[in-house]
Amino acid sequence: MKVAVLGAAGGIGQALALLLKTQLPAGSKLSLYDIAPVTPGVAVDLSHIPTAVEVKGFAGEDPTPALEGADVVLISAGVARKPGMDRSDLFNINAGIVRNLIEKVAVVCPKALVGVITNPVNTTVAIAAEVLKKAGVYDKNRLFGVTTLDVIRSETFIAEAKGLNVEDVKLNVIGGHSGVTILPLLSQIEGVTFSDEEVASLTHRIQNAGTEVVEAKAGGGSATLSMGQAAFRFCMSLVRGLQGEANVVECAYVDGGSEHAEFFAQPVLLGKNGVEKVLPYGEISEFETNARDGMLDTLKGDIQLGIDFVK
Ligand code: NAI
Repeated sequence: MKVAVLGAAGGIGQALALLLKTQLPAGSKLSLYDIAPVTPGVAVDLSHIPTAVEVKGFAGEDPTPALEGADVVLISAGVARKPGMDRSDLFNINAGIVRNLIEKVAVVCPKALVGVITNPVNTTVAIAAEVLKKAGVYDKNRLFGVTTLDVIRSETFIAEAKGLNVEDVKLNVIGGHSGVTILPLLSQIEGVTFSDEEVASLTHRIQNAGTEVVEAKAGGGSATLSMGQAAFRFCMSLVRGLQGEANVVECAYVDGGSEHAEFFAQPVLLGKNGVEKVLPYGEISEFETNARDGMLDTLKGDIQLGIDFVK
């Protein structure tokens, strides 16, 4: 199994690379790429950790050597938010970065499973899809927007609010990955009831949790460590699916034939070819139905921005 991380010298990239170096299956290869000259050094640093995972680092303009033979590619290259910015403010810089990297993926490892972390995810995934389509190698089952951070934040905040063991809290977060497009399905958590106020305040906190970190870091960046963990969880699920493990399910932002939008975050069953099956997200409450319907114009606008960018 070979995993490539693009943007590997950044806050997310380094946290993710550390987790992958320590926990990928023995015999795996980890390939780190970033335009930052420090990247080979990050790989040398990690290579001193005694695990059977081979790490190589690549810097410079061309990600090709990092991508050769990759089964999974995770992209966190780009700029992160500062206080006062929302994710759409990142579009001008990150759209071009994602387009250029995906153009290389299309040539070097078109069969890889690709997880896009770079924001604004609602739009960058649409950009990635359009680039892959142009190159004639698009397979909707192999492209994912990584929304796992919304899931782990929900698990944490709900456990905290209700005094639960966090390991027992499981839920779907659907929609997209910004503001109102993030919709945690609190009504589906077994054995827990929430008042209307709790639903409103927890949903609001989950939707704005990224801003909580951006403000707390006061200009020093956005979520990197929790995102590193989230991307790691998602990557391990992709790897387990590729290895043929059964019943591996994660929520992700995919082109899954949703009736709501061209891309929609929902639970997917992962397998040897990426998305094995898009799963229904189940019954939802009236609050959630309204929130879902209310987000769609925003989500569709974000997607269209990505499509137009490539055309
Ligand atoms: P960072 O600034 O610490 O790292 C970004 C890295 O990308 C830097 O090392 C930079 O040199 C590199 N880079 C820039 N252009 C590149 C290119 N063309 N090729 C390769 N590498 C390139 O940022 P951080 O905190 O790691 O965030 C990365 C991205 O992830 C941001 O867009 C951020 O908004 C996004 N993010 C996504 C989340 C999600 O839930 N999907 C959560 C948190 C952040």
